Amino acid sequence: MIMNKIESRKDEHVRIALEKDVSSKYNYWDDMSLSHNALPEINKSSVDLTTEFLGKELKSPFLISGMTGGYSKAKKINENLAAAAETYQLAMGVGSQRAGLKTERLKDTYNVVKEYDIPLRVGNIGASQLVLWGHEETLSFVTKMVDMIDADAVAICLNFLQEVIQFEGEAHAKGVMDGIQHLADNIDIPVIVKESGAGISFDVAKRLMDTSIAAIDLGGLGGTSFAAIEHYRAKLHFDRLHARGGKTFWNWGIPTPQSLIEVRDAVDENFPVIASGGIRHGLDAAKALALGANMVGVAHALLKPATKSEKETLFEIDAFVKELRAAMFLTGCDHVDSLKFVEVNGWI
Ligand SMILES: Cc1cc2nc3c(=O)[nH]c(=O)nc-3n(C[C@H](O)[C@H](O)[C@H](O)COP(=O)(O)O)c2cc1C
Repeated sequence: MIMNKIESRKDEHVRIALEKDVSSKYNYWDDMSLSHNALPEINKSSVDLTTEFLGKELKSPFLISGMTGGYSKAKKINENLAAAAETYQLAMGVGSQRAGLKTERLKDTYNVVKEYDIPLRVGNIGASQLVLWGHEETLSFVTKMVDMIDADAVAICLNFLQEVIQFEGEAHAKGVMDGIQHLADNIDIPVIVKESGAGISFDVAKRLMDTSIAAIDLGGLGGTSFAAIEHYRAKLHFDRLHARGGKTFWNWGIPTPQSLIEVRDAVDENFPVIASGGIRHGLDAAKALALGANMVGVAHALLKPATKSEKETLFEIDAFVKELRAAMFLTGCDHVDSLKFVEVNGWI
């Protein structure tokens, strides 16, 4: 079967992310460490990872960040991720659902996640679409996206770094705030605003607080670089100009820990914040929770296991959960919220 343009793009994104090194130059979680507690006075078995997020009970504070859907092989990837999300009772997002809205035969690459008992399913669409669609079409399309995966929340992805590097990118940012506001005011599920590797600043988080969104996923710099992915895509298409742009902007963005501190400062104490970007294991997750995140998003670290098998995906998530538990035990924290009182050492 011949792939349409969106399908080939989705396929290329995943293939490049698997085959090339698309990480930003530096992972800023390496600069942070948690203060060791040599006398934790709790038992590891009493460490409780359960978390409530957007009214849903999760067994541990992890979100499988939205990555894929929209080309045939994505179905198996989403299926393996969904099986793991069910087993570990975690939140899970899918990648941009635009392809599923446009092409009927691609819907099952997303809606396969409906077959699993996942406590919090998150739909996904790029922010530029809100401007291109306008208010009424946005409401109608997002309602279809919600139906497609039985979404409990929808993420609007601020991916302007990618849009500006991508040779076919749609860098329509004028009117996005208005689009977000209108959607959040008129849809009856929570709206999450997410970045995808360039981070959210204090100022942007403050502006988002003027809308009725329910959570921010700050998606900072330190993990997957979309400039890097688009660099390799442009090379694949013999496009020297965009390949060069991808290289120039490879490390563009706000480091995830810094973005987390800025967002936490900008929003109310109880406003839900997801930290993502460069989370490689449960110890990175513990650092993010100690810096004030309510939940931690993981994308690239789960991509390879999810392309291999359900067993590999389960192994990886089990490792994340066990590492987080170990870090909590070693800092004397018996529940997730208590991590906020642990001293974080680093440049903060
Ligand atoms: C192959 C791939 C595809 C992605 N597609 C999407 C997408 O469609 N929508 C989105 O909001 N984010 C997408 N992301 C971004 C992730 O959700 C996440 O924000 C980003 O990768 C940073 O996390 P990481 O460093 O753990 O990979 C994608 C990431 C990867 C690796």
